[in-house]
Amino acid sequence: MVCLGNICRSPLAEGLLRKKIYNHSLTWHVDSCGTANYHIGSPPDSRMISTAAIYGTDISDLKARQFSQSDFEKYDIIYVMDKSNYANVARIAQNESHRNKVRLLLNDWKPSSNLEVPDPYYGTEDDFKQVYELLDEALEHILNKLKSEK
Ligand code: 4NP
Repeated sequence: MVCLGNICRSPLAEGLLRKKIYNHSLTWHVDSCGTANYHIGSPPDSRMISTAAIYGTDISDLKARQFSQSDFEKYDIIYVMDKSNYANVARIAQNESHRNKVRLLLNDWKPSSNLEVPDPYYGTEDDFKQVYELLDEALEHILNKLKSEK
């Protein structure tokens, strides 16, 4: 799960998918990171932590890190939240197989829609709630889709 800062969207996506993986008794590994280095080592944004907590998801123990080349080796799928993250990750892929791992997250739910998970960082409390509801729904569909492909 990749966004810009790894303090709002991608840690939430990590926490949500981790919970769903557990609920489905799966053993998949999920992690998150940011394309930028601004917040390395920081916990998620306090507004994202409290929004997630309202809905019953605890992401308070996560720590931001930056995307690295080794992630292309380590992960089967690299989900990015928006087109700018897509461009930044795809640009540093060193081969076609690595580039093919990068997917705009919402396209795995709504194919070819090219929809983005909006960045709530400069937004309101409501924007954080909307991101939660969007990611929760999208990831439920994505988990079921990946499960059926296994
Ligand atoms: P995120 O949100 O990419 O969803 O973690 C942002 C976090 C921090 C900044 C921008 C977006 N920033 O400019 O510091």
